[in-house]
Amino acid sequence: MSKLALLGGKPVSETHIGGLPWPPTSEKTGDKLKALYLSGKWSFNSPSEQEFEKAYGKYHGAKHGIFMVNGTVTLECALLALGVGKGDEVIIPALTWIATATAVRDVGAKPVFVDIEATTLCMDPAKFEQAITPKTKAVIPVHLYGSMADLDKIIRIAKKHKLGVIEDCAHMQGGIWNGRGAGSWGDVGSFSFQQSKTVSAGEAGICLTNDDELADRIFRAKHIGYSIGATQGGAKQGPPAGLRCHNYRGTAFQALILADQLKGLKKLIATYNRNAAEIEKTVAGLKGVRVQARGRLANTQGYYALVLIFDSAPMKDIPLSTIIAALGAEGLGCAGTYGPVYSHVLFNMGKNEYRIDGGSCPVAEVVGTVHSVCIGHPILGNDIKTIRKICAIIAKVVENHMELINYTATAKKLSEVIS
Ligand SMILES: Cc1ncc(COP(=O)(O)O)c(C=O)c1O
Repeated sequence: MSKLALLGGKPVSETHIGGLPWPPTSEKTGDKLKALYLSGKWSFNSPSEQEFEKAYGKYHGAKHGIFMVNGTVTLECALLALGVGKGDEVIIPALTWIATATAVRDVGAKPVFVDIEATTLCMDPAKFEQAITPKTKAVIPVHLYGSMADLDKIIRIAKKHKLGVIEDCAHMQGGIWNGRGAGSWGDVGSFSFQQSKTVSAGEAGICLTNDDELADRIFRAKHIGYSIGATQGGAKQGPPAGLRCHNYRGTAFQALILADQLKGLKKLIATYNRNAAEIEKTVAGLKGVRVQARGRLANTQGYYALVLIFDSAPMKDIPLSTIIAALGAEGLGCAGTYGPVYSHVLFNMGKNEYRIDGGSCPVAEVVGTVHSVCIGHPILGNDIKTIRKICAIIAKVVENHMELINYTATAKKLSEVIS
């Protein structure tokens, strides 16, 4: 067992392991963008947008796609379409990006945080059911990093209590649950195509739904009240009473980039899934680390990231920053998770604007934050030889845990002496 690079040993990889260039670019798409530019059909439900909406919906098993400017306003429009507003509560997992919560706040409702499962790091269905009150109007399960929330259990509970279900699929482009696409199980599926996502146009988002009436309400909510199919300036009928409508339109340029990328998505996530399986095989043979479970009935993962969880002996008492530094010194760059929304540095809701069911979410606060490390999808897209190097790095760091335990103890003593 060679010494860890963090402590002066030879690294597994002499160079930092890079990832796929992200977002991806292509000359062919560039040519099409030029033609689109010259056509002048840049927005207002252009042919490019409609084409992408159709293709993306079909890929995920949904009848309608409604294209927008980002994956936060898609959540907002889905909530508006479901009639969520002032005085209502919406249940969301504690571990997600803050946008899941701000979208709820922005329609005037209160986000209610519930804990996650230690296995999948997604919403715990039992905690969801416990948090329901007469004010609850909807639930937003989030398919996070490399896992999917338990849609069957969550939808069953939601139906029993007559609640709307919005799947937050910002991390789950191309994910399949029990034979059908992510985002087609709930009333609405919401996706983000921001710069870092597995399908990306810098910014953009889409709502998917199989419900004709919801599709029309979502479309109106994002397009100043126009109904689907109305021509610009040719509205025959206004939006339903009380439906707040905005300009949240995306542009044809974004849609064109996304339509081209979508053609390569199947192949891309097949690589992510193959490589994740290879890493999982290595991790299964190690003590003190595990991989985020894929979700009970998940077939294919979208893999925004692969999450390693160091929550058992001998790794659990080593600070996460030390583990990340040790992996980094061997050549593998990774990062922590978002952490609970209500502890995020950018979270700025007043105490009366949200509720943490039960007062705390210990699994999200500890397992999902203190012990979890994300390997981003561009790194997961490497060739198998590089993936085996990544496996060797993880194995080396875990097998040399005593070096990290001693290092942590020495650092602690030193800091005590200094203070
Ligand atoms: C889980 C989750 N939900 C929603 C969003 C919001 O998407 P956008 O950044 O496109 O507004 C993100 C984006 O990072 C996300 O990760």
